[in-house]
Amino acid sequence: MVSVPLSPPRGMDDILPDEMPLHRRLLETVRQLFRLYGYREVETPTVEYFELFAVKSGEDILGHMYVFKDAHGRQLVLRPEMTAPIARLVAGKLSRSPLPIRLGYIADCYRLDEPQWGRRRRFYHGGFEIFGSSHASADAEGLLIFDDFMKRAGVSEYTFKIGHVGVHRAIMSSIGIESEDQDRVLALMDRGRTEEAEKMVRQLSKSQEGAMLFSEVANHKPGPALETLTDIKEIVAGNERALGEAQNLQEILSLATSAVDPSILVYHPGFARGLSYYTGFIFEVYGRHADVALGGGGRYDGLVSTVGGPNIPGVGFAIGLTRVMQYLLDKMAVKVDHDSALVYVVPLSDDAVGEAFKVATQFRRAGASTEFEPSVCSAVEAIRRAERRGARFLAMLGRREIERKVVSVRDLERRVQEEWVFEEVYEKAKTLLKGIRVST
Ligand code: HAM
Repeated sequence: MVSVPLSPPRGMDDILPDEMPLHRRLLETVRQLFRLYGYREVETPTVEYFELFAVKSGEDILGHMYVFKDAHGRQLVLRPEMTAPIARLVAGKLSRSPLPIRLGYIADCYRLDEPQWGRRRRFYHGGFEIFGSSHASADAEGLLIFDDFMKRAGVSEYTFKIGHVGVHRAIMSSIGIESEDQDRVLALMDRGRTEEAEKMVRQLSKSQEGAMLFSEVANHKPGPALETLTDIKEIVAGNERALGEAQNLQEILSLATSAVDPSILVYHPGFARGLSYYTGFIFEVYGRHADVALGGGGRYDGLVSTVGGPNIPGVGFAIGLTRVMQYLLDKMAVKVDHDSALVYVVPLSDDAVGEAFKVATQFRRAGASTEFEPSVCSAVEAIRRAERRGARFLAMLGRREIERKVVSVRDLERRVQEEWVFEEVYEKAKTLLKGIRVST
């Protein structure tokens, strides 16, 4: 016998039968939104080439990847996120698709993060990406979809943390800071190390005035999105490109507030995200009961060309489905529906096993989910077992039923019981199902 640990690798989770209904419900909600907003679903392999993430993912991701070599010595990774693989599709197999193209995905991602509440080494992303549109409506759409998701998932009380790295990048470009150095500055800001970011800007900058402008924006206090944006526009008024980026945010917010409650949009002028491919609008979503992002995204206009495709703009976001599930269970104590068969079929004597087996088939042919109990037991025990498993109906057959060619069918909720003759099981099961559908 080999001795194998009975738990999955550290930081990874099995999804157990009791958890699966909620997991599945969240996935179904994401798929409903794909259909509702016109996203076509795609799937890519869990294993990708290292190089896909090497250039534009940022240190946070690069330092936390599962990296290994295949038999030919190629460096492979377990995907840490999905935007780069989707950009790979758009650069390659989907390069002839008419633009804009909307793609959706549900995928497990892997990061060697230090495990803690809400931070796992394997987690699901439900993502939405639009390629081929620079228009603010494409950015605003992300806010609408995420808002819709939160309502459907049952997360009440949440806020959007809004930012725009285009404003920071414009200021840095205007003082001669190259794109790779900009990435490093933004990575520091993402980790809350704003002072170090400012210091780096001062060192790299060709103009102290520009560095001061950068600091003023980065240190501006967060607040209601539209009002705070008015302040930022005044601050950057002298820098044409930065002002243009701020105006872009204004347009995104104006479009988004046609559907999303403006009071939940909070602009953080000093906000940056860990991934270095972002070029403009960015956001994250926070529930009231935990200080961790339930999802996030933004605009990444250079990514498709970075992975070898044409210069196509892109914007999108990912919902952290595993984190949302933990949030719903632990912070909102949502009740989970259990997966249980509708009908539980039990033979009450050995000579009824064959007939009970056939009865179960009739129920299933009528469309009722049916679980068969292989061991014979008493009627009292059968009721106990059926209730424990959460079935609504119990079908029992013993010697008495076999002699009379009937099956006893008990409604465990209404506590009534009737007999159905064998030939009528299929039809009666159909009628029963219709009744349930009408009453639910
Ligand atoms: P991200 O912020 O790295 O963005 O991940 C998105 C969400 O995934 C996070 O907000 C969080 O809810 C969840 N998440 C991240 N790491 C973990 C973890 N270790 N355990 C559990 N949940 C986690 C991206 O990955 C971008 N690709 C999003 C995007 C799409 N941007 C544009 N399009």
